[in-house]
Amino acid sequence: MTERRLLLVNGPNLNLLGTRQPEVYGTTTLAQIEELVSAVAAEAGFETRAVQSNHEGALIDAIHGARDDCAGIVVNPAAYSHTSVAIADALRSVALPVAEVHLSNIHAREQFRRHSYVSEVADVVIAGAGARGYEFAVRYLLDKLG
Ligand code: DQA
Repeated sequence: MTERRLLLVNGPNLNLLGTRQPEVYGTTTLAQIEELVSAVAAEAGFETRAVQSNHEGALIDAIHGARDDCAGIVVNPAAYSHTSVAIADALRSVALPVAEVHLSNIHAREQFRRHSYVSEVADVVIAGAGARGYEFAVRYLLDKLG
């Protein structure tokens, strides 16, 4: 039976949301984002497990942990999007639907932000919608999972 649980993964520096460059990332805190995701998932009877880390290996461990008890993954890999083959490979390994979120429109910023290794694995990529991007990501996964 498919588990009715989503994994929400947030990468480095996202613990500082709310005060970190609010002109780029908005004023919504990570706790508020986690609540939003949890509330939207709950509408469809899904639980959420939320993980944030500033460490690449911890993010990879959390992704591996989803293999046995989650149905899909919402991930904002933050700066690791642009550098981490390892996180992309972890997502490939667990073979679950993946929704990648960026608060900012990474395509309208510096050149180095325009490529994401994770986008090569993601089923959907949402960038530039701010905190609501997480809501769209959850709704996409819920729709896909039926
Ligand atoms: C980000 C965009 C990344 O380029 C950046 O390193 C982040 C946040 C976003 O949500 O817009 O930390 O993923």
